[in-house]
Amino acid sequence: MAARASRRLFGDLLHKRLASSRYGGHRHCSSIPDSAPKIPHFSKRGRLLTGATLGLVIAGGAYVSTVDEATFCGWLFSATKLVNPFFAFLDAEVAHTLAVSAAARGWVPKEKRPDASILGLEVWGRRFSNPIGLAAGFDKNAEAVEGLLGLGFGFVEVGSVTPVPQEGNLKPRIFRLPQEMAIINRCGFNSEGIVAVAKRLGAQHGKRKLDETSSSSSSSDDTKHGGKAGPGILGVNLGKNKTSEDAAADYVQGVHTLSQYADYLVINVSSPNTPGLRMLQGRKQLKDLVKKVQAARDEMQWGEEGPPPLLVKIAPDLSKEDLEDIAAVALALRLDGLIISNTTVQRPDPVNKNPVAAEPGGLSGKPLFGLSTNILKQMYILTRGRIPLVGCGGVSSGEEAYKKVRAGATLIQLYTAFAYGGPALIPQIKAELAECLERDGFKSILEAVGADCR
Ligand SMILES: Cc1cc2nc3c(=O)[nH]c(=O)nc-3n(C[C@H](O)[C@H](O)[C@H](O)COP(=O)(O)O)c2cc1C
Repeated sequence: MAARASRRLFGDLLHKRLASSRYGGHRHCSSIPDSAPKIPHFSKRGRLLTGATLGLVIAGGAYVSTVDEATFCGWLFSATKLVNPFFAFLDAEVAHTLAVSAAARGWVPKEKRPDASILGLEVWGRRFSNPIGLAAGFDKNAEAVEGLLGLGFGFVEVGSVTPVPQEGNLKPRIFRLPQEMAIINRCGFNSEGIVAVAKRLGAQHGKRKLDETSSSSSSSDDTKHGGKAGPGILGVNLGKNKTSEDAAADYVQGVHTLSQYADYLVINVSSPNTPGLRMLQGRKQLKDLVKKVQAARDEMQWGEEGPPPLLVKIAPDLSKEDLEDIAAVALALRLDGLIISNTTVQRPDPVNKNPVAAEPGGLSGKPLFGLSTNILKQMYILTRGRIPLVGCGGVSSGEEAYKKVRAGATLIQLYTAFAYGGPALIPQIKAELAECLERDGFKSILEAVGADCR
């Protein structure tokens, strides 16, 4: 109705203008012929509607201007839920590409509310404002780091990045299982390669450093609140090219080109879609690989902060013996952390009843939660809590994040739940996690780490 009223208003004005110009502007001139079109007046109804519309706009604007920033920010995050159904109509990879572009352009809400202090923690000498991170695979080419960190993640991991650009597997290669809140993917490391990613991170590096300087100048305490290049922690996940014969050489290239931008580095040896990759998790193979990558990193020139910590991301499809081997290597080589876990090649109940389950690839999301949390717990016990573990797999709520923490995770990552739930999920998970900690009498995340393994 408002639109009709404004169309009428516009039409009326246009008529008036036409009439005045056609007759030389002498509206009262008696020489206007009788055949001239009649100039309609505003109807009473039109005037009323236009007035009401303008009134509503002004009142709405006035109300919004009285609302504090935190409330407004909450509205923006909630409003993103309206967009989710639209994404669900699109092909999974198209929806993903759109989401990354939106984040890259800053068309996503920015979290302005500070994280609850109970969520803050220090790992590897870096201050995380909260332990909830975005897992690798979402921003494979580091296109949207600022936008994604701005959503309120405590950290964002880009990659996996391969040394040479590669297309990955044929499309379609990402499949949704919405009823199970799961995804099967066989992307196969589609990557623009280390040079393109280094350029992008290099350009952002200066900007993030500037942001940090300007925000720290207004802060009175000395704690370093962000990562190497500014607020928020950035992880870089390294992969290997499909046709490469020398995996270690691939990871070493990644270290040489990208480690200067990373707050932490990840050797990904657990994607199920690159033939032979998971074999690198064997005791001897892993030991040789980690030694070479550590040496490459340590040979480089590092300032006061030292080199970025090195983590290994493992699969959830490992036997007890495999886990013992990995734990032994991690302890012997003083690995800085383990990410547990990548996607699974298993099809646990009820996914196995879904016809999409027959698609080859790695399964992520809700059905992965139990499997990955179980592996996490075993690894926490095997490493005796000496190595920070990142719990990843099937987290979609604060309660589940809390379960990961109690099972031994110092930090938590998610991907699939974010793909389904969008930005509104992040503040929700953080608030629920803080509630869980308080409910059980913990003063901080670190106090709760491994509580179920003691
Ligand atoms: C479409 C897609 C692509 C992924 N790509 C990568 C990747 O390139 N490197 C990696 O280490 N993990 C990748 N992952 C795995 C996630 O990082 C994460 O380990 C896994 O999805 C389990 O977490 P979730 O259940 O919260 O999704 C990918 C996952 C999905 C769904």
